[in-house]
Amino acid sequence: MRTLWFMTGNVGKVREAKHALEPLGYNVRQLTVDGLEIVEPQCDDLEIVARSKLEQARPYLPNPNDALMVEDAGLFIDKSNGFPGVYSAYVLETLGCDGILNLLEGENERGAQFEAVAAFLLDGKIHVSRGVCRGVIASSASGEDGFGFDPIFVPDNIEIDGKTTTTNGLTFADVDMRLKEQFSHRRKALDGLIKLLSSSETASSS
Ligand code: IMP
Repeated sequence: MRTLWFMTGNVGKVREAKHALEPLGYNVRQLTVDGLEIVEPQCDDLEIVARSKLEQARPYLPNPNDALMVEDAGLFIDKSNGFPGVYSAYVLETLGCDGILNLLEGENERGAQFEAVAAFLLDGKIHVSRGVCRGVIASSASGEDGFGFDPIFVPDNIEIDGKTTTTNGLTFADVDMRLKEQFSHRRKALDGLIKLLSSSETASSS
């Protein structure tokens, strides 16, 4: 089994990655480095942020034969030209879900999407995969589960194996985590990575 270090402070993400990547022969472990402050580049593209984080984490890989992964996500609102996007964590902390609801007050066009980019370093090559979840910003916050912007995000219905999957208009915070996972941008990014790794294709190389 190959060791895959996942640099993240979020143990929930590590659990999801274990579930997705261990069947492929990766022993997924969380990488945290005391005192390391990852600097995010000022840009509006998650892929650039993820690649930058990967390069910053690279020197701390415990063994050069191990694999390394980072993942970056955000909420992109159509009407606001993608805001908060790469600034989602900061906006959640400062304005919160209420700030987003105020921004869209009286607005009918409420389309938005969660995006996640997973970047993976393996044998000196970088693989990148993106996952998207379309939906709308609800008119008010609802639900106790989930995290971040889940209480104000209602995903669009999706078709899985010819069957419609829906939250029936409920937010991500209203529904069971297993249902949310079926729509999850993060899960889609990991699935894309699995496809890339299985076919040994590189999205791009370092
Ligand atoms: P991170 O890159 O996973 O840290 O995500 C940055 C920010 O995007 C988080 O702080 C949340 O505000 C938001 N976000 C990303 N994914 C989700 C999600 O699945 N649900 C709710 N908010 C999310």
